[in-house]
Amino acid sequence: MAVCSCSKNNKSDEDRFIDDLLSRMTLEEKIGQMNQLDPEWDAELKEPLIREGKVGSIFNIVGAKEVNRLQRMAVEESRLGIPLIAARDVIHGFRTIYPIPLGQAATWNPELVEQAAALTADEATSVGIRWAFSPMVDVARDPRWGRVAEGYGEDTYLTSQMAAAVVRGYQQSPITNHQSPIKMAACVKHFAGYSASESGRDYNTTWIPEVQLRDVYLPPFKAAVDAGAMSLMCSFNALNGLPSSANKHLNIDILRNEWHSDALLVSDWGSGSDLVPHGLCADKKEAALRCINARMEMDMQGNIYYDYLAELVQEGKVKESQIDDCVRSILRMKYRLGLFENPYVPEEEPVAYTDEALALASDIATESIVLLKNDGVLPLKSQITNHKSQILVCGPMADQPREQLGTWIFDGEPGHSVTPLEALKQYQTTSNNIKLLFEPGLAYSRDKSTANFAKTIAAAKKSDVILFFAGEEAILSGEARCRADITLPGAQSALLAELHKTGKPIVLIVMAGRPLAIGADVANADAVLYAFHGGTMAGPAITRVLTGEAPSGRLPMTFPKMVGQIPLYYNRLNTGRPTYDPPVLIDDIPVGAKQFSVGYSSCWLETATEPLFPFGYGLTYTTFEYGETKINGQLPMTNDQLPMTNGQLPMTNDQLPMTNGQLPMTNDQLSMSISCSITNTGKTDAYDVPQLYVRQVSGDFARPIAELKGFQKIFIPAGETRTVTFTLSREDLGYWHEEKDGFNSRVWFATDEAEFRFSIAPNAGAAQLR
Ligand code: NOJ
Repeated sequence: MAVCSCSKNNKSDEDRFIDDLLSRMTLEEKIGQMNQLDPEWDAELKEPLIREGKVGSIFNIVGAKEVNRLQRMAVEESRLGIPLIAARDVIHGFRTIYPIPLGQAATWNPELVEQAAALTADEATSVGIRWAFSPMVDVARDPRWGRVAEGYGEDTYLTSQMAAAVVRGYQQSPITNHQSPIKMAACVKHFAGYSASESGRDYNTTWIPEVQLRDVYLPPFKAAVDAGAMSLMCSFNALNGLPSSANKHLNIDILRNEWHSDALLVSDWGSGSDLVPHGLCADKKEAALRCINARMEMDMQGNIYYDYLAELVQEGKVKESQIDDCVRSILRMKYRLGLFENPYVPEEEPVAYTDEALALASDIATESIVLLKNDGVLPLKSQITNHKSQILVCGPMADQPREQLGTWIFDGEPGHSVTPLEALKQYQTTSNNIKLLFEPGLAYSRDKSTANFAKTIAAAKKSDVILFFAGEEAILSGEARCRADITLPGAQSALLAELHKTGKPIVLIVMAGRPLAIGADVANADAVLYAFHGGTMAGPAITRVLTGEAPSGRLPMTFPKMVGQIPLYYNRLNTGRPTYDPPVLIDDIPVGAKQFSVGYSSCWLETATEPLFPFGYGLTYTTFEYGETKINGQLPMTNDQLPMTNGQLPMTNDQLPMTNGQLPMTNDQLSMSISCSITNTGKTDAYDVPQLYVRQVSGDFARPIAELKGFQKIFIPAGETRTVTFTLSREDLGYWHEEKDGFNSRVWFATDEAEFRFSIAPNAGAAQLR
C-alpha cells in the first residue's frame, strides 16, 4: 500500500543543511555572520575576526587571490568553516562598462539589459565577487537628485521590467530550482522610497502616502523579488519619519508577510547606526535593537550588531530566535550560491573586455541614445561622403575616457574607453576620408574659461558641420551629487551660443548623468542626441548613430524646461483646475490686471506645465504613423457579467482566452487586447517603441492622466506596416485604495468599475487620452 509521508519534517536539503549548521553555531558566530566589513581594510584588526568566524561578508575586496586568501581564513581556520561572501558595488558593468542604468532604461530593451547584466556577472565573478549591490530600482521623478543616474527613470512599469532583467542576468539560474547555483546574487536597492527625497537632495527625508508607495515605488522591488532577487538593501532615508533599517512595516509586513520573500535584507552603509543622527535612537545600542526588531539582517559597516547584539540577547531584549531568522537568510544565500561546496574562485586570467562584451557595450550604448531634435543634419551624409568636407569635433566631453563611464565604476578602466573623438578617427581611417578637426574649446564640463573660444569659433568657420560634445563630468551625478541648477555646467552653453552664430550646422551630443534643462541649447543646435554616460563604448555608439544607424532610444524621464517645474513627471494627477490651453504666461498679463481677469488654472507663469521633452520621447531617421488604437473585446468589470451579459458573452467566443479548453469562469482570468497599426512612412528601416498608456476617468479615486502599461521595441522596414498588440488583465488596471475610519486605515488593491481610455502612442505626450 502506498502511504503519503508528507509531514512537517519533510525538509528540503537546503533547510536540513542550514538547520544543522545553525544548531552548531554559538551566539557569537551567528552575530559574526550578520557582520559585513569593509573597504578600509585594516588587516591587523579585521583578519583575526574572519579567523574567529565573526565576519559574514566582505566587500570592496577585489582580485581572486585576495578573495581566496581571506576565504581560506574563513573556511580553513574558523571553527565551522562558513565561507565569506564577497560583495561589491557592481552597478553598470565591472571592467566593461555599459551605459549608466538611466541610459540602459532609455533602450527600452530589457533583453539587452539582461545580457549586459549576464556579461557583467561573468567579469565580476571571475575575480571572486558573488554579490552585486544592484540593481537600484528607485523610481525617480526629480533630476536634481544625483542618483537618477543609477536607476531606470520615472516610470514604475519600465523600472520593473529592467529590475527583473538585471536580476535574471546576474543570477543566471532559475530561482525556483536551486539545484544549480546562482551565479552572482543581486541586491535590489534601496528599500524603499529613497528617491522621493525632498527637493532632490540626497539622503533627505521622504513622505510618501501608503497607496503611492505601493502604486509607484514598491512594484519594481516586487518585480525583482518575483524574478528571484537574492537580497535587498535598506535605504538611508526616513520614510514618513521612520528610516528603513528600523521600518517593520516595510521589512516584515510587506517584504516577508505580503511578498513571502526569503531574500536577505542588508543595511546600507551604516544605515543602522544612522538611526542616532536621524534622531530615532539615543545611542547605537538602541539602534541595534530597533534594527533587529525590524529584521535588518546584515549590518553593512555599521558595527552595531557586532558591538551590541550579544549584550541585547543576554539582557533578554532580543530573542536568539530573531537572530536565527537573520542568519538563516545569510546561510541560505551562501548555500544557493554554492559557496559551501565551492568557496574559492579559480585564480586564472580574469574575464574582461571580451569581444562579446565590447560588442554588447557598443550595441546597448547605441540603443540608449535618444534623438531629441533633427532639422535634417543627421545622419551625416554629405559630410562623410564628400572628401572635401571638414567636421569640427568640439566640446568638453568629446575626448574624456573617464567621464564617459559615468558614476559607480570602481573597476572600470578609462584606458579601455573609446571616446567619440577616437571613434570618429577610427571611422575616418577605416571607412572614409572625412577630415576631422579637434578643438575642445573647454577643458572639462565645469570649465568657465572663454580663453579658447576664439580658436574654436575660427575652426568652426572653416568646417562644414560642428559636433559639440557637451554634458556633465561623471562626478556630478550619482550618490550625494545633487544639483540645484540642472543646466549645462561651466561655459558650455555660452560656447554653443557663439558657435551657433557662425551659421554652421551643429549637432549637440549630450553625455550626462541626468536629464538636463537644455532648452536654450536645443534652440542653438540643428540636431540633438542625448547619449547619457554611455560607458566604455560610448564613442563607437555615438559614431554609429551620427553616421547612419537609426537611433532607437526613448526618454525614461521627463525633461523639464526649467528647474522650477520639478518634480515634473508624466503620470501626475490632473488637478481640478488643469492648465488653460493656451496657458496664461507672465507676459500675457496686462499691467494692472485685476485679480480675477486672468483666471485660475494650475500653471507656472514663466512656463506652462508642458515639459521640454515628454517621457517616452525619441525621434529616429524615419517617421512613423500610428493608426487608431483599437480595443478588442471588453473587459467585464463585475463577476455577474460573466459568462453572459444580457444573453451575450462579454467577448465573442474566439476572443476569450481558453484554459484547458474551458472558458474562464472568473473575472481575473479574463484579459483584453489593445492594438494599433504603425507604418514606417519614411525611407529608412528603423526600430520604433510603441507605448500603451491608460487613463481611468472615473472611479473611487482620482487617477493619473496617463500610465504606461506596456511597450514593445519593434523593427519596421521603410514603407511597411506592423500591428502591435498588448494584452491587459483586469488586475493591470487596478491600484491601491485607502479607507480611513477614525484612527484606523485600511489599504487594498482593486480595479474600479469605471471608464478607462487606452492609447498606443510614441510617447506620453502624444497619448490620446483626453
Ligand atoms: C551607499 C550606497 O547608498 C549604496 O547604494 C551602496 O551600495 C553602498 N554605499 C555600498 O557602497
